[in-house]
Amino acid sequence: MVKNSSKFIPQIEPWFDDDEIKELTEVMKSTFVTESSKTQELEAMIAKYTGSKYVVSYMNGTMAIFAALKTLGIGAGDEVIVPDMTFIATANAVILTGAKPVFCDIDPETLQMTREQAEKKITSHTKAIIPVHLYGGAVQMDEILELAKKHNLHVVEDAAQGIGVKLNGRHVGTFGDVGILSFYGNKTITMGEGGMILTASKELAEECYAFKNHGRKIKGIFTHEKIGYNFSTTDLNAAIGIAQMRKLDKVIKRKKEIMDMYKKLLKNVYLYDYPKNVDCVPWFTSIKVENPEKLAAFMKENNIGMRRFFYPLHLQPCYKNEVFGADEFRNSTDAYEHGISLPSSATLEDEQVEFVASKINDFYKG
Ligand SMILES: Cc1ncc(COP(=O)(O)O)c(C=O)c1O
Repeated sequence: MVKNSSKFIPQIEPWFDDDEIKELTEVMKSTFVTESSKTQELEAMIAKYTGSKYVVSYMNGTMAIFAALKTLGIGAGDEVIVPDMTFIATANAVILTGAKPVFCDIDPETLQMTREQAEKKITSHTKAIIPVHLYGGAVQMDEILELAKKHNLHVVEDAAQGIGVKLNGRHVGTFGDVGILSFYGNKTITMGEGGMILTASKELAEECYAFKNHGRKIKGIFTHEKIGYNFSTTDLNAAIGIAQMRKLDKVIKRKKEIMDMYKKLLKNVYLYDYPKNVDCVPWFTSIKVENPEKLAAFMKENNIGMRRFFYPLHLQPCYKNEVFGADEFRNSTDAYEHGISLPSSATLEDEQVEFVASKINDFYKG
């Protein structure tokens, strides 16, 4: 028997408990609230977890992408390939460097950028590719790295949504020159706001550190070798991140259980799945339906939050001056027109997942 839910079921929410409060209180009591030892502790945890040789914290994922591109020398006159289906921050970080984001279509089943689609957009101005590991899946990086090698391009992996995701056993964000993670409030785990740069290059790690530290190698000195800015996180955010890292395995396990429940319970609904070589983290569990807007409205009446897919970049009002061919983005447009993400928080109880699935089944029965 599926019970009605009196409480609104959000599409996504973070999982906090006393551990975050304890960590946060400790930092406040210490009075060292800006970036200091807690941030370093978190960076070390992330290096160990992801296997990245160097990890540099940032205030958010957007600035981490910007920094990665800048330190790789991307700027005015350059083109950077970005998938058409992503959160807009990927493209806007390119704009901030002065370069031009060039959009490519995605794979209709995995929703990820592919070599084939990226290659179509390479010109003599292309300097970098940003594969985005979308919705808890992974871009097939071997293909992208091969393409990058062929055309001498930098690879910046946008793994903002990808903590815990592995491709062929290796954590996403560790394949390219640089990778980034985001710890925004809706991510698998959060710091409130926060980003991390992952790289195997000591030189790039040092450049990325200086870029967010007013151009200095260390804090507390007032000679600045390079032009830099302040994109640092804080020990307050890091304290939350440390507590969140401690529960990451539990969060991932629960998110996978929730996806498996939806798989079992949903009738006649296409659920996006992942290729065999991807150890996914279903950041969002998503389905493909005929009329996502109507479904979302029906679910809202039943106290359930749903989320449409990212609006394709080539349709964004802020990119309206660009001219695109009619068939260039068939897959991302189709994914937007039919895709919708289900409540996917690790905090969901079994009864809530059952209730959500029953309402979707009801909608498509009627
Ligand atoms: C794919 C993608 N790239 C970049 C970002 C930007 O990260 P942040 O919000 O930490 O700036 C996000 C999410 O927020 C994202 O989903």
